[in-house]
Amino acid sequence: MNSMKKIAIASDHGGFALKNDIIDYLKEKLYIYKDFGCFDPKPVDYPDYALKVGKAIVNDEYQLGILICGTGIGMSLAANKIKGIRAALCHDTFSARMAKEHNRANILTMGGRVIARGLAQEIVKVWLMSEFSQETRHIVRLQKVEDIYEPC
Ligand code: RB5
Repeated sequence: MNSMKKIAIASDHGGFALKNDIIDYLKEKLYIYKDFGCFDPKPVDYPDYALKVGKAIVNDEYQLGILICGTGIGMSLAANKIKGIRAALCHDTFSARMAKEHNRANILTMGGRVIARGLAQEIVKVWLMSEFSQETRHIVRLQKVEDIYEPC
């Protein structure tokens, strides 16, 4: 069950306020989580935080991650550089559900300058409660994604 999975969460300064809103939700719902920073709204570099959370997941210390920057884009780009990470930028609940059911996203990214607390908490709720479908077509497609190492 997703509620038994440990969650790693982090943000840069652009996502700092929304991260605190999401932590409020995780606490309320009794999820086990760790906040990997940042711990104040001073400017920082989002790849540093994507790497902390990505490593924690690849090492299986945590099973799911939430990364928040200003737009969610930088965190998504950075996290997806890590082998084994499938980070999905979601700003609606349908995408959040599909990200888990079809794409098996192990990191959710969002933009603190894009959506407000209520929607973001709903997105997190849906994403955490959804499960990978285990359908063969999605397993095959995800394996193809995993296998892409084409030099350009
Ligand atoms: C920081 O100003 C901003 O660029 C960052 O939070 C993020 O939106 C990058 O994708």
